[in-house]
Formats: sequence, structure tokens, C-alpha cells
Amino acid sequence: MVYSSNKEKIDDPKSLAKPITINSLGKFKKNAEKFVTVALYDAPMAAMAQKCGVEVVLVGDSLGMTVLGFDTTVPVTMEQMIYHIEAVKRGNDRSLIIGDLPFMTYGTTDRALENATRVMQAGAHCVKIEGGQWLVDTVKILSDRGIPVCAHLGLTPQSVHKFGGFRVQGRNEADAKQILTDAKMLAEAGAHAIVLECIPSELARLITQSISIPTIGIGAGRETDAQVLVINDILGLTEKPPKFAKNFLVEAEDIPGALKKYVRDVKTGIFPEDANIFL
Ligand code: KIV
Repeated sequence: MVYSSNKEKIDDPKSLAKPITINSLGKFKKNAEKFVTVALYDAPMAAMAQKCGVEVVLVGDSLGMTVLGFDTTVPVTMEQMIYHIEAVKRGNDRSLIIGDLPFMTYGTTDRALENATRVMQAGAHCVKIEGGQWLVDTVKILSDRGIPVCAHLGLTPQSVHKFGGFRVQGRNEADAKQILTDAKMLAEAGAHAIVLECIPSELARLITQSISIPTIGIGAGRETDAQVLVINDILGLTEKPPKFAKNFLVEAEDIPGALKKYVRDVKTGIFPEDANIFL
């Protein structure tokens, strides 16, 4: 068994056996223990992630770009999400599974409830939705009815056309203030976690310290409670990888080796490196 500096057990069969629940995420934050998330889309990779100690698996609508060949996540459908969530579920009975609600499937609270129900029935333990204050009622309604919600702020890829491209968010004072306010309101409404994507690391640190629920960063610096990367980036499958990504296969012998290195580097605070961070 290998221990990292924060005493997290890696490669310990006993620690890998216990299923991760939504409550585990809050406990990780309370214990200042980083947890590891991977966005992935199929059964064999889900099984490998489980074996390598990945606590949270995100079946992200990034699958539109990483698997289906679209330029954005906008064309992704509920049927595609369900198909991939069911596959991931078949491969992994330990990690917490978060399923994305794709573009415009939660535009009203009624649609959110209907589509979140489908995602949960496909095997997810939590749904993820992108946006700020306008989702407060949706978070309350889903959460009150027993559906845990992970919010998503910063660069929310479903709004790529509004942003005019995949750009870092929260760089000016007004935008940063808005993202912080959104995070507080969504946490207050009952969200269980918030993904922070492509924002300056200082803003991510401030948000993480200001709310009691865990933050999961991607391009958001080292100070978030957890990190998430897309499996294609971890394994060097992306032709032009984003600044926040790292190919862990370069320093490993095989795919399990790359996943274990990612897990270890997140838990010990080695990843993200300075080169992966936005200031
Ligand atoms: O869809 C996805 O995979 C995501 C992550 C990049 C956070 O939203």
C-alpha cells in the first residue's frame, strides 16, 4: 500500500472496496482530502478507473466532442447520455457516477425534473447542470425530490456560442464577483458540489473557501477540493490539448499506470502544475 502526504490510501484493496456516495464528497472536503474525478464514457474505462482509485466518474456531455466528433457539446442528446451512463454503470460499482444533462434539457424546471429522472434511472447518482443564479429553483426542486445536483460554473461549454469560444472566464472583477455569488446561491439552494472550469486560480480558491460544498476544478488551479480531467486528455488522445490538461501516459507504462499517476498527483497536490493554471 502507498500513502501520499495527506494519508489517502492508494492501491489499498480495502479502501477501494467501499462505494463512494454523495456524502463522501462532503467528508473529503471536511478532512481536506483531495478527491479525483475522471470524465469517461464506457464500461472498460469505468472499470479501470474504479481499480485505480478514481472516486468520481463523470459521464460528461464532452462525449459529443471526445467520442462523437462534434465541435461542441451543443448537439448532444438525452439518448446519447443515457446510452453512455448505462455503459459506465455496468463497468463500475464503486465510484460515484455524475451524469450530465445536455444542452437545453433543463431549460425549464419541468424539463429538468423529467430529464434528471432519466439520468438517475440510467444509473447516475447525481446530475450535473451548467449555469448560475437562473438554476437556483431547479437545484431546489431536484434536490428536494431526492436528486443530488452538481453545478458547473466558469467556462460552461454549453454556452460556448455566447462566450464566443472556449475562453477563460472570471478574469474581470464584475465576472469574478458574479461567479462567486452564483456559487454561494447554488450551494445555498442545495447543490452537493460545483465544477469550476477555466477560471483564475485565485477566484477558485476564494469560492472554495466561501462555500461548504466541494469544488471540482478543471483549469481552476490547485486550491479546489478536487480535480477533474477528461480521459482523452489523460491518455494523450487529444490533438491540441488545452493548457489545463496533462498527458499522464507519457510518464507511465500503460493505461492503469497513467490513471494511477493522475490519482496520486492530484492527491499529493503535484497536479495541476504551474503550466496548467490560469492566473
Ligand atoms: O462534460 C464534461 O466532461 C465536463 C467536464 C469537462 C467538467 O463537463
